[in-house]
Amino acid sequence: MGDYAFPCFRLAKALKKSPQIIAEELKNKIQLDENIENMQIIGGYLNFFINKLVLAKVVLQEISDKKELYGSNKSGEGKTILVEYSSPNIAKPFHIGHLRNTVIGSALYKIYKFLGYNTIGINHLGDYGTQFGKMIEGYKRWGNEYTFDENPIDDCMDIYVRINNLCKEDENVLELCRENFKKIEENDPYCVEIWNKLKNMSLKEFQKIYDLLGVKFDSLKGEAFYSDKMDEVVDILDKKGVLKDSEGAKIVDLDDKGMGICMIKKSNGSTIYATRDLAAILYRARTYDFDKCLYVVAYEQNLHFRQIFEVAKYLDIPEKCLNGLEHVAYGMVRLSTGRMSTREGTVVKVDELLQEAIDRVEKIIEEKNPDMENRKEAAKKIGIGAVIFNNLCNTIIKDQVFDWDTALNFNGETGPYIQYIYVRTKSVLEKVENIPELKDVNFEYLQDKASIKVLFSLYDFENILMQVVQKNEPSILARYLINLSQNYSNFYNENKIIDENKEIQDARVALTKAVEIVLKKGANLLGMEMPDRM
Ligand code: ARG
Repeated sequence: MGDYAFPCFRLAKALKKSPQIIAEELKNKIQLDENIENMQIIGGYLNFFINKLVLAKVVLQEISDKKELYGSNKSGEGKTILVEYSSPNIAKPFHIGHLRNTVIGSALYKIYKFLGYNTIGINHLGDYGTQFGKMIEGYKRWGNEYTFDENPIDDCMDIYVRINNLCKEDENVLELCRENFKKIEENDPYCVEIWNKLKNMSLKEFQKIYDLLGVKFDSLKGEAFYSDKMDEVVDILDKKGVLKDSEGAKIVDLDDKGMGICMIKKSNGSTIYATRDLAAILYRARTYDFDKCLYVVAYEQNLHFRQIFEVAKYLDIPEKCLNGLEHVAYGMVRLSTGRMSTREGTVVKVDELLQEAIDRVEKIIEEKNPDMENRKEAAKKIGIGAVIFNNLCNTIIKDQVFDWDTALNFNGETGPYIQYIYVRTKSVLEKVENIPELKDVNFEYLQDKASIKVLFSLYDFENILMQVVQKNEPSILARYLINLSQNYSNFYNENKIIDENKEIQDARVALTKAVEIVLKKGANLLGMEMPDRM
């Protein structure tokens, strides 16, 4: 029941005294200072009531001093963290799973950076593997039937389906495909050229999505980058005596750890996904000497990551790096049925989805506020913001249903709601001539329940960010922003801000200014941009 409480139950056992008595003794030993107004014992809890005048003064002063740096700290200083996210496969569609991945990873990236970590964002592109042998074979045969212009990835998928069908009919074609992949590995100019072409085409398409989302990476080293770095992995594992032969293939047996077997080299000698990941761990440990390396990847790959983290223990890398490997698993995104799905009915194209979000918002603006300036720009921020927030508002491991009406609801627990409250703070601030200097503000006018709730929320911001990185859970920040918005909305409804009493007005305006700063910063950290009007 206090602003803060200290439960004494655990101590009771150790000290062999009742919680009540312990609370009593503690209370007698703690000296009240100006920060704490009162202490109270209730049922084994020692409750603290903090001085709300000090709270108002300290919080608003700090926000006013630090501005958009409020909430940041240096807790990550000297630590290097790699955040691997997005990682789509080239010549394949960028699907809504990759979208969720990109949004989660980018938010974590921004928040770690804000807390002082040396943060490196990596897009581990799926640009290698036997399927490219097939793509090349298909391209050789039918490439000239396609323009690769308007929808290059559709064209690629078309070719991929055709060549797969042909492979099923004709063993010889499959053999040709295998040879093509080998040729890529051997640097055959023709095969490498087609492969690069596919890669550039895909990257251009992916970039459109990244631009819409405002997402950036520091490194685009994908699977192919590790193709010549796998032999070393195989060598090390061999020397350590952990490689076993299994029907011609090389494996590491993790059965006794309940993780099955990890394939390292196929019987035909070609390496696989897991081997490239192991090479990447080795490379990243050497290059970055990282403290943490986060893999934002769907939970379907749980076993894969448990396996490679286990095998990585044999790779002579520092203990620190080994302990820092972490799979940040997230749930699937499903679509509520209806108008969401595209022609094929199954694959939803992310660029189309983002565009639809923007178009829908623009329509709403046209209906509700036809005279608004910069409509297009606002529609983009709101539409994209809605999609981003929708991907982050629940615990990331939970499966998420995407539904337009929920995501775009201006009154629900949504991105647009947060933006709407932010815009409200802006319009309040525009109505006053100037923002008061804090030294002139009388904090007595911020002692009502609604104001204090807002103050507590503001005070929590840094703590919330620390929790996000502790759990790698950006939804904690998303929920926080909803909370802060609701608290401000409540304050706004209960208090007249533009008031004939200038002292009252100044205090409320000062609080509004602080909310404006924190809402914007928090939303930006999630990847959302804030509109000036709505
Ligand atoms: N490209 C993969 C996919 O789309 C994800 C890669 C995840 N990262 C990794 N290091 N294995 O499923």
